Amino acid sequence: MKQQVFIFTLLLFLVSKAFAINESLQVSFKDKVITVDDNFQKMLGGPTWKVVKRIDPNSKTMTTYEGYELADFFSFLKKKFSIEVIHHIETLAIDGYKLNIEGSALESKGAFLALKVYDIPKRGLYNKMLKSYFDWRPSYILLDPKSPKVSVASPYQVKAIKIYDESIINPILTRLDETYQAGAKVFIKTCSKCHSLKGFGGKKAPAMNLVIKRWKLKKDDALEAFLRNPQGTLKRKIQMSAFNGSQKELSELIKFLRSL
Ligand code: HEC
Repeated sequence: MKQQVFIFTLLLFLVSKAFAINESLQVSFKDKVITVDDNFQKMLGGPTWKVVKRIDPNSKTMTTYEGYELADFFSFLKKKFSIEVIHHIETLAIDGYKLNIEGSALESKGAFLALKVYDIPKRGLYNKMLKSYFDWRPSYILLDPKSPKVSVASPYQVKAIKIYDESIINPILTRLDETYQAGAKVFIKTCSKCHSLKGFGGKKAPAMNLVIKRWKLKKDDALEAFLRNPQGTLKRKIQMSAFNGSQKELSELIKFLRSL
C-alpha cells in the first residue's frame, strides 16, 4: 500500500512537472534596460497571455504561437519600469546570436510577441498533447498582423530579451543635455517621420539641422506659426504636416530646435 502511494505521488509529481506552467517571468531593470530572462512565461498581473493560431497556406500545418500583444506587453513594462519610449529590442540567443528589432517593426499595430511556438500535428489527441508539449521552442518571434508571414524570427532558444529605453539607444538623445530631452522626444515622435537628425529619421525632407538654419533670424512666434500651419505661412507648396501637439510640447520642441 505504501509503495502504491509512493508510485502514485511520484507519477503525479512527474505529470505536474511536465505540464506545469511556470508563472514567474524574471524581469530585471537596470540603467533603462529591461531584461526578460529565458523563463518566458505568463506574467502575473501583467499583460494578457494570448494564443494565436496560423495555418501555413503551403504546407497546411498549423503553428500555434503563445505570447503577448506587443502593445499590451510594452505598455505594461513602460508603466512598471517608467520607461518612456521603447524603440529597440535585442534578443540574445543561447549561442550568442543577437537579433535587433527597431522602430517600425515594434510599432506595427497589433504585432504579436510570440514567446512559445509549436506546430500542431494534423491528427490524434494523444499526438497533439505530446507534440504540443515537446515541440514548443522557447523563441522570440514578432508576428505582423497584416501579413500571414512571420516578419521577424529569431533563432530558437532565446536566453533573454533586452528592451531599451529610447533615451539610451537613440543617437539624438544620447549625451543630450537634460534641458533639451523633452523637445527632442517631441521631434522624434512627430518630425522624424520626414526629417532626420544625427542619422535618425526619415528621408522625405532635408535633415533638420539644415532646414532649421532658415529660421535662425526669425522669432519663436514666427516659427510656431509656421509649424502650426506650414503651407499657410510659407505661401508655397510644402509636403509638411501641421504640428497638432500641445503648446507645451511646441515650446519644448522649439527650445530643442534652437539648440541645433
Ligand atoms: C510629412 C513630412 C514632414 C513632417 C512630419 C515634418 N516636416 Fe518639416 N518639412 C517637410 C518638407 C517636405 C519640407 C520642405 C523642405 C524644402 O524646403 O524643400 C519641410 C521643411 C521644414 C522646415 C524649413 C521650412 C522653410 O523655411 O523652408 C522646417 C524648419 C521644418 N520642416 C520643421 C519641421 C518640424 C519641427 C517638424 C515636426 C514638428 C516637421 N518639420 C515635420 C516635411 C515634413
